[in-house]
Amino acid sequence: MSNVVIVGTQWGDEGKGKIVDLFTEKFDVIARAQGGHNAGHTVMIDGLQYILHLIPSGILHREKSCVVGNGVIIDPFALLEELRMLKDFDLRGRLHISNRCHLIMPYHTAVESAEEARLADKKIGTTSRGIGPCYEDKIGRRGIRLADLEIPEIFREKVAANVQFKNQVLAGVYGAETLDAEEIYDSYMAVADEILSYVTDTAEYLNAAISEGKSVLIEGAQGTLLDVDHGTYPFVTSSNATSGGGCTGTGVGPGKIDGVVGISKAYTTRVGGGPFPTELDDRIGRYVQEKGAEFGASTGRPRRCGWFDANVVRYSCMVNAVDTLVITKLDVLDGVEELKICTGYSYRGEQLQFFPTGIETLEAVEPIFESHPGWESDTSGVRDYDELPENARKYLNRLSESVNTDVSVISVGPDRQETVVVENSPYLARLLPA
Ligand code: GDP
Ligand code: IMO
Ligand code: MG
Repeated sequence: MSNVVIVGTQWGDEGKGKIVDLFTEKFDVIARAQGGHNAGHTVMIDGLQYILHLIPSGILHREKSCVVGNGVIIDPFALLEELRMLKDFDLRGRLHISNRCHLIMPYHTAVESAEEARLADKKIGTTSRGIGPCYEDKIGRRGIRLADLEIPEIFREKVAANVQFKNQVLAGVYGAETLDAEEIYDSYMAVADEILSYVTDTAEYLNAAISEGKSVLIEGAQGTLLDVDHGTYPFVTSSNATSGGGCTGTGVGPGKIDGVVGISKAYTTRVGGGPFPTELDDRIGRYVQEKGAEFGASTGRPRRCGWFDANVVRYSCMVNAVDTLVITKLDVLDGVEELKICTGYSYRGEQLQFFPTGIETLEAVEPIFESHPGWESDTSGVRDYDELPENARKYLNRLSESVNTDVSVISVGPDRQETVVVENSPYLARLLPA
């Protein structure tokens, strides 16, 4: 038995979907813990691509159970679309959605788009899915949960009260169009039964499974630098994308977690606004963007690309207590003549000791780079660590050393098979169930 949390260690899109799919065969239950359909997790199986937003990436394995935990927020229409995409995967009896999940409502997306417009050039660059305003209502204790759909009168009352308040905000603060509570009520009730057929108390379900000796893999969404507490605030998402969020978002207590696997790209990307010290605005940045197909899996927006930043991943390994790292997209660096790793930040002439808290500092730091010779050959066909080009192994060793963390898996392509497991990694054998 082993329960493991997988987290992104950068700004999201590290390849969590691929790695969760890869690890799924070793686990019994795969659970999402936070975020919503702002996430886009790509899994490629024998050339077929699936993009999961709300449902765990493990769902593509027909014999496994999947849980959408209480920390996830749900747009019922996005969920239905995903259920339809997965209609051939026999979801009945193996997909369980928490009755404590908060619902994304039309006023959340309306407020978000009005607020992003108000912020103008200071906007966050969100995914426009209503994520921030929905979590605001959850923390503000006026949210509406899936369980509320079970009692239509209560649901109607809550919708009416919230719409009345949000309309004052939309019209009064933003001068935006208002919404009709009854229309919202009708549209949600029209899909309630289908959604409620998957809903249960998932904390009970997960803890019972663990008591029976089953293993749970918790699939993080977003990445550590997008975490509302530990990320580059305010250019973050509104949930805890760090490993602690894996516990609060599922109801599996920390004592039951056996380890944390961090996922990092061999370089860095970021979508939306906010500081990015190692960003490349040149030919190499464009090469990586094109070769790595760095366009958002949810929104299609181009991802900003830059060198590997050891400050970011070292900090992530600390706040998540990462046991071992998976490095993805090494193949994208094939053919880049000279590679750089950022090993420190200099600020006002002095090297910083800690990852900066304020974005004003992060925007002003000078990255300290070291150079590494690249490699020519195509790594996508490599399956044994020893067959990687010598310079690729040196680069990986230096990445691992610069973040003081073991690397146990290297991904060299989007497909399940395009993976290299580091045989002598001490951590993987301990973390993955037999
Ligand atoms: P996630 O949000 O962390 O699950 O990552 P995304 O799915 O948003 O983005 C990762 C992208 O990289 C997807 O298009 C994957 O298919 C792709 N990918 C994952 N691992 C690799 C890899 O090792 N090499 C290449 N070339 N692509 C990869
Ligand atoms: P996965 O799980 C990359 C970013 C958005 C924006 C900020 C806030 O696929 O790695 P939000 O809509 O969450 O309020 O947007 O967070 N963001 C992501 N970036 N991958 C994601 O998810 C993201 N989810 C949110 O681009 O900068
Ligand atoms: Mg993604």
